[in-house]
Amino acid sequence: MSTKEPWGNTVDVVFDDQIAFVYFNRPEKKNCMSPTLNREMYATLHHLELDDRCSVVVLTGRGEAWSAGMDLKEYFRETDNESDAFKMRTREECAAWQQIKLRNLAKPTIAMVNGWVFGGAFTPLTSCDIAIAAEDAKFGLSEINWGILPGGNVTKVVADTMNMRNALYYIMTGETFDGKQAAAMGLVNEAVPRERLEARVREIAKVLMQKDPVVLRCAKEVFKRVRYMDWETANDYIYAKSDGSQYRSGGEFRSGAMKAFLDDKKLKPGLATYDGGKKGKAAKKVAKAAKPEKAAKATKAAKKAEKPKAAKKGKK
Ligand code: COA
Repeated sequence: MSTKEPWGNTVDVVFDDQIAFVYFNRPEKKNCMSPTLNREMYATLHHLELDDRCSVVVLTGRGEAWSAGMDLKEYFRETDNESDAFKMRTREECAAWQQIKLRNLAKPTIAMVNGWVFGGAFTPLTSCDIAIAAEDAKFGLSEINWGILPGGNVTKVVADTMNMRNALYYIMTGETFDGKQAAAMGLVNEAVPRERLEARVREIAKVLMQKDPVVLRCAKEVFKRVRYMDWETANDYIYAKSDGSQYRSGGEFRSGAMKAFLDDKKLKPGLATYDGGKKGKAAKKVAKAAKPEKAAKATKAAKKAEKPKAAKKGKK
């Protein structure tokens, strides 16, 4: 099922199996990103954070491109003669979804790279938590080919993700590389044959869905922040965030998993995810409860509902 609202025309969303497949939807323009697309993508992602039809968000492209980067006509040429304030607003709307909303999305994100990835598209690519590419997808830092340097924080995200030799080589030559090379350089997690791409992404989405969603969100937030902290600040922040995540989630998943491992001997957490904390309806409520009093109520309900089954739920 494909639903247009509230995505607009430049973005489309298909829900399946608790996954939202979010499409760059300008195949005739190789999914390049116009100011309209930037606004519609922000609205889409913002909406999906609270949409119960999905637990994982997959970003991909319609047609043969993932995204050919910023729209040279609508994003650059047509704004060249606008006021400074207008240009700044256009940049801000771009950063709002690529660098803030997507990077920090409440739900796990996977880039499913089906084709061309140029220039500005490196920013949403690296903002996704995980990236899987088709082996024959083509990537390029093409900015230098048309006379600009990689802006829109592309240089920054490339410096954070690729090593110096590879990053400078591609920034300065503008040559393309394929999915296999992208995986070898660590720009994406894996490259798979095109016909396996969606199946592999679905497999990973399933794994992510088994985790405690609150703790999963905090885990990725912590990683994205601590990279820029000094040692002691990071240690302090990680403990605070860890305590916060247990408080916000209700702690059922953690205590259930410990019981399954230490008392019931039904789980080897080194080898498998505890699934008992998520299956019960009451436990789901716990994960959703944001307010302390709600969390306390939900924790009680979860304990009641899970008690007789807790021993049976651990995986071997
Ligand atoms: N900005 C604006 N329009 C773009 C675009 C972009 N980044 N990328 C593609 N398009 C448009 C083309 O202008 C063309 O429009 P038209 O049909 O109105 O002429 C349409 O999309 C199809 O592109 P086309 O170039 O004909 O397809 P192709 O298969 O021959 O080549 C690319 C595909 C992606 C290699 C080529 O379009 C390209 O080099 N795009 C620019 C990539 C880039 O440098 N992006 C960095 C931006 S920061």
